[in-house]
Amino acid sequence: MCGIVGVVGSSNTVEVLLNGLEKLEYRGYDSAGICVAGQDGETTLVKSVGRIAELRNKVGADVTGTTGIGHTRWATHGVPSENNAHPHTVEGGRFTLVHNGVIENFEEIKADYLSDVNFIGQTDTEVAVQLINHLAISEKLSAKEALRRALEIIKGSYAFALMDITEPEVVYVAKNKSPLLIGLGEEFNVICSDAMAMISETKTFLEIIDGEIVTVKADGVTIETQTGETVERAPYEAQIDAADMEKGTYAHYMLKEIDEQPAVMRRLVQEYTNASGELEVDEEITSKLNNSDRVYIVACGTSWHAGWVGKKLIENLTATPVEVHVASEFAYDMPIISEKPFFIFISQSGETADSRQVLVKVNELGYDSMTLTNVAGSTLSREAQTTMLLHAGPEIAVASTKAYTAQIGALAILAKVAGVVNGNENAVAFDLVHELGLVANAMEVLVNQKEIIADLAQEKLSTTRNAFYIGRGLDYFVSMEAALKLKEISYIQAEGFAAGELKHGTIALIEEGTPVIGLITEEVMGSHTRGNLKEVESRGADTLVISMEGLEKEGDNIILPKINTLLTPLVSVIPVQLLAYYASLQRGLDVDKPRNLAKSVTVE
Ligand code: F6R
Repeated sequence: MCGIVGVVGSSNTVEVLLNGLEKLEYRGYDSAGICVAGQDGETTLVKSVGRIAELRNKVGADVTGTTGIGHTRWATHGVPSENNAHPHTVEGGRFTLVHNGVIENFEEIKADYLSDVNFIGQTDTEVAVQLINHLAISEKLSAKEALRRALEIIKGSYAFALMDITEPEVVYVAKNKSPLLIGLGEEFNVICSDAMAMISETKTFLEIIDGEIVTVKADGVTIETQTGETVERAPYEAQIDAADMEKGTYAHYMLKEIDEQPAVMRRLVQEYTNASGELEVDEEITSKLNNSDRVYIVACGTSWHAGWVGKKLIENLTATPVEVHVASEFAYDMPIISEKPFFIFISQSGETADSRQVLVKVNELGYDSMTLTNVAGSTLSREAQTTMLLHAGPEIAVASTKAYTAQIGALAILAKVAGVVNGNENAVAFDLVHELGLVANAMEVLVNQKEIIADLAQEKLSTTRNAFYIGRGLDYFVSMEAALKLKEISYIQAEGFAAGELKHGTIALIEEGTPVIGLITEEVMGSHTRGNLKEVESRGADTLVISMEGLEKEGDNIILPKINTLLTPLVSVIPVQLLAYYASLQRGLDVDKPRNLAKSVTVE
């Protein structure tokens, strides 16, 4: 959501902070700021509304120092403005704080401790830094002790990085539920909410556990528990290639990530193939799945859409019933749970707060769980009992593409392996390695049809205010994903509908020229969907069909190479991703960073 960076002991502090913020910008981009301190204790605070480029323009060459913190914001409390942008400071400038997360009791803290303070903005973060200042003065505490006391009072999620003007060579950090890491360098150390931000500075990172207070200096890092005991922890090497973070020759990350999908499919098969050439998944995961009487898939957005496809795969290949739930609903309105449930959390980022909230409850109830994520070591991965990785490489564009197909590919592998272990006939007969090879080839054919798809986007979507995707079965699930992709980056109001359901009300919205895009990948449902398309055509709709070879309808078609019926979403989604991409591009919008969104949604 928001992003945090920090550095201690650098000769290039401003650049390290700005470069780090640029890497995190996709996580939140309505305002940003940095605070830099020199060894003499002189600090400079620069903030701006908008993108990091604007902050960069504002930071003068005279801003120098050896210690600093920075933040890119996605507004939760208070509008995007300089006053609400981080870092936040106090009168006299002693303490400066950046924060990710949400402080739930900030109103109570204001009333109980800070009734004399004049706040310049509306953020919960300003309340936190004022509380630290208040405690330091009233209880005569050092910065670390004031932070420790503040953490006893603050309720909610947070990742904090705190500077104290009287200790210009130190940054104090603490976290609860929000991600934060320390990166270890040679005579300098860095702080970041995501290793990607600092991967060009170091590959060696130190995990922080909720509740710990960490003192970061140039020559060392000290981790303490809330009660002051020192904790020793071995660092780890982050498996991120700095080159994966670059756009290369592409105009946008989204297009690069769409193009990467055939390679991701092949890598996924490789990663889950053992030395004897058989697909293999951690036995703990398959036995938990096979011992369960029901699988509960919990996720949000695109990952939730992948979950629906996963349901079909798991039910077909393991015969275990599957329910698919939106995390934000499940957390506070839990359905009746079966006797032996197995929970699968699907999350590209592994940080989504809505999903985590469910996982916390699942852990309290002692149920078995797994996280399917792209980010090793992410919060959901650490807190679930087991993890399967997507191996998709960093996904930077806010609109998810390659993570969606990797999620479906990984769920297919899981279902196949668990099914084979159980002797399920469908699973045994399913040559998934071969079929995923065909999928990768089909994806390649489709990503090479950019010009045709760009023209169709121009013809069907360039001026419309709304659009519909319709399909049945798996095609319905892809229709939901297609609509989400289109609306989030082109701002066209789009809906994904079960094709047969349209006539029960929504067809009233069809008028002359309304784009309706039908997905037809299975003959058994194809004739009905073709019928539904005819119904909307006779009411003026401008239709396009994304159809499997042999299932075309007269009129405009994008033809998908033939692949196994269970795996069709992996290919039918490629044209809809490209249609969304070109619709956004043709409207002159910011494809990779659409308005109001953030890549990783760490608030509920
Ligand atoms: C849409 C998109 C979002 C995410 C959702 C869940 O393109 O990316 O809908 O899928 O916010 O995020 P993760 O998968 O990180 O839990």
